[in-house]
Amino acid sequence: MDNKKLIELAKKAMENSYAPYSKFKVGAAVLGQSGNVYTGCNIENASFGATNCAERTAVFKAVSEGERKLVKIAIVSSAEDLTFPCGICRQVLAEFMKNGTYILEDKNGNVREFGTDELLPNSFNLQ
Ligand code: THU
Repeated sequence: MDNKKLIELAKKAMENSYAPYSKFKVGAAVLGQSGNVYTGCNIENASFGATNCAERTAVFKAVSEGERKLVKIAIVSSAEDLTFPCGICRQVLAEFMKNGTYILEDKNGNVREFGTDELLPNSFNLQ
């Protein structure tokens, strides 16, 4: 799957974003080693801490379907600029997307890519 297609799927997933509090919509699409794609959006909650980011929604969908090896993830948002994943999502991605690629697109269609280790160097792990 090429990056453009993955970005399109992330945009489609963003349409389902539930963000009544922040109004900040995020969409993600993650490619697994099997070739399957799992998408996610952010899902907010009145108890703010219960909010789930788009990236983790996508990763947890993948892992819960038995896909533990992820290759790349596309992330888009309703903001003008690129949206970088939060620290918690980077740690979760470090667990399942080793040596993978983050693909970020801004509102003007500018795309930038980053490696897993680039966004979370020396990540904590127990294995
Ligand atoms: N959010 C994501 O979905 N992914 C990120 O990488 C950053 C933040 C969501 C969480 C919350 O619903 C909203 O964006 C504002 O923080």
